[in-house]
Amino acid sequence: FRKQFVTKKKIKSATAFITAHGLYEAMINGHRVGDAYLTPGWTSYNKRLEYQVYDVSNLLNAGNNVIGVTLGSGWYRGHLAWGENKNIYGKDISLLLQLEITYTDGKKETVISDGSWKSTTSSIISSEIYDGEIIDDRAEKTGWLLPSYDDSKWSGVTVGDLSYDNLIATYNEPIRKHETFKPVNIFTTPKGEKVVDFGQNLVGWVMLKVKGNAGDTVTIEHAEVLDKNGNFYTANLRAAKATSIYILNGNGEENFEPHFTYYGFRYIKVEGISGNLNPDDFTAVALYADMKKTGDFSSSNSFINQLQHNIQWGQKGNFLDVPTDCPQRDERLGWTGDAEVFSRTAAFNMGVNNFFSKWLKDVAADQYADGSVPHVIPNVLGPNSGGSTGWADVSTIIPWNMYLAYGDTQILKNQYSSMKAWVEYMHSKSKNDLWNTGSHFGDWLFYRPDDDNSGRAAVTDKYLIAQCFYAHSTQLLIDAAKVLGKTDDVTHYTDLLQKIKNAFLKEYVTPNGRLVSGTQTAYVLALNFDMLPESLRQQAAERLVENIKSYNNHLTTGFLGTPYLCHVLNRFGYIDIAYQLLMQDTYPSWLYPVKMGATTIWERWDGEKPDGSFENPGMNSFNHYAYGAIGDFMYRVVTGIDTYEDGPGYKHISIYPHIGGGLTYANADLQTYYGKISSHWKTENDKIMLDVEIPANTSAEVVLPASDVNKVTESGNALNSAMDIKIIRSENGNITVHIGSGSYHFVCSK
Ligand code: BGC
Repeated sequence: FRKQFVTKKKIKSATAFITAHGLYEAMINGHRVGDAYLTPGWTSYNKRLEYQVYDVSNLLNAGNNVIGVTLGSGWYRGHLAWGENKNIYGKDISLLLQLEITYTDGKKETVISDGSWKSTTSSIISSEIYDGEIIDDRAEKTGWLLPSYDDSKWSGVTVGDLSYDNLIATYNEPIRKHETFKPVNIFTTPKGEKVVDFGQNLVGWVMLKVKGNAGDTVTIEHAEVLDKNGNFYTANLRAAKATSIYILNGNGEENFEPHFTYYGFRYIKVEGISGNLNPDDFTAVALYADMKKTGDFSSSNSFINQLQHNIQWGQKGNFLDVPTDCPQRDERLGWTGDAEVFSRTAAFNMGVNNFFSKWLKDVAADQYADGSVPHVIPNVLGPNSGGSTGWADVSTIIPWNMYLAYGDTQILKNQYSSMKAWVEYMHSKSKNDLWNTGSHFGDWLFYRPDDDNSGRAAVTDKYLIAQCFYAHSTQLLIDAAKVLGKTDDVTHYTDLLQKIKNAFLKEYVTPNGRLVSGTQTAYVLALNFDMLPESLRQQAAERLVENIKSYNNHLTTGFLGTPYLCHVLNRFGYIDIAYQLLMQDTYPSWLYPVKMGATTIWERWDGEKPDGSFENPGMNSFNHYAYGAIGDFMYRVVTGIDTYEDGPGYKHISIYPHIGGGLTYANADLQTYYGKISSHWKTENDKIMLDVEIPANTSAEVVLPASDVNKVTESGNALNSAMDIKIIRSENGNITVHIGSGSYHFVCSK
């Protein structure tokens, strides 16, 4: 689209408001408007379409000006999910633009996307999220972004009669370009493919510099891994072509990069460039939502540090305006379960408040009339794809996690009716308070011991899981109702919760406390959500530990059990076992992929087997953040930074480090709305040092690993002599102190 116009006076300021059906890229006088990509982002477009606002005062000329906008299909009408699923929101792409100019004399002028614009096709001849982009530089209308260009041969435009009811302002940080990567290796595979390795599985694209003849075609394919023979491997991308094709115009050096697609890759295969590939010509750039980095975690164990790195890159690559399951294959959807399990970890690593606030509004917008929640948000899977336990609970779990992390009650206000509708849905499907209907993904991708002759399997009864999450969501609804002062709901749902737990006991627990599914996930969920009476809890925890030991200190949990596993072990006195699982490096474990060279979190515990062969390509993503939920344990238990619910958003802080796992130090820092919190611990000979930083206007309880007050100092002074440190209690080898803001250096001697 092209619009030429004249400004007649001196410009004071100019603001552009832009959105589109499809994706847009806008230019004024040859300069890009803003530095956001894949705009207007992805929402449940029919109900909520975001527009972006740009200060373009510096882009306008005195006199002749040109706005040029290119559109792509994107999520709006491109191919999404499987089969022939496209045109989900509509068949036609369109632009809505309003440029408001204020002159120095106070007069205003507005340029809008009306019938006076011109249009034509661009050099982007095809663009699809899954398949990639084809650009034919020969078709570029040279100079079209400048006022001197003659557009008399271009067509006009059709002015659509479209509703503005769904227009909303942008809530969250846009997708921007971040880290760039140069090739770490360029080589020819045994099959003869020319491959570039960027050293990191990332999400974004490659910027290419190339020279050649008109019509020469350069093809860039993307892959996350090489197969066991060292060849380029794309079978796990399934139907996604994930290919950039560039046709040269032959006019000297040409620069290419895609506009309306993205790729998940570490390697590219290049065709169409003769001779050796030059590393200078290839730059990979990571694109993701421009969230502030808030957390840092490091330790004395380099594998754990790589795990943290992989978690962060899993987050970057899958936070492209919506939280996606994976960024590479023909999926890349806002799978609710994945986002739910990872949300708390995400809030440590980066500022995700705006990101999730926006997405949760889509959760509510796409929630079905009966309260059921779609499997993916925005829902592109149709009217009957929802209600799966642990997935649909995204509607209660993420609002609560964001409330804890950021202390803002607004998110609970916004989401309350959505939370309640989901609980009511489960209630409506229950008989005698037992919810045992519907189809569920269950403990997705749990460990399947093929060679286990014991007759056991780690399959957890799906309805047992459903009853646990029914209780959990009800508990969170009660918690939210308390915060919002909805006392009737507190009473009503507290009563319901008791009935849900009673029904659980009756159906799934023997009088001696054995669960009908003897799996790790069953015990983890029952314990984490307080499904068992106090009297049965400790022995249930022992059964969990026995189970872990029977697998030679390995976990067998899937998506739903994994996030809580180590927390439950710690809560019931088994931090040593939690650490054994964390440090385990044979399959299944968190460190197994790390040992195999992973740079992101894998979808499956054994995406790549020890012999270098792969899991079934039908479902084998190497960038799936769900199992990265262990990050929450690393921050909250290893270094022990947490918030109390009575002072959410880290107004009232808990610092409870857990020394173990053979670590000699572990450090975490977290930027909160109050300021920076630090918990750094270190062991040295028979001493444990703990450096703590507590921001202004907050207070903290710190648990020190010591039993004798006389053997603890703070900044060199006896602990009990410090006026501003209040010793609260000493029990089980721990001394708890209350402190206010400031920096503290504790030393605990044996
Ligand atoms: C996705 C998952 C998702 C699941 C539902 C898969 O195809 O990649 O991560 O949660 O389907 O079970």
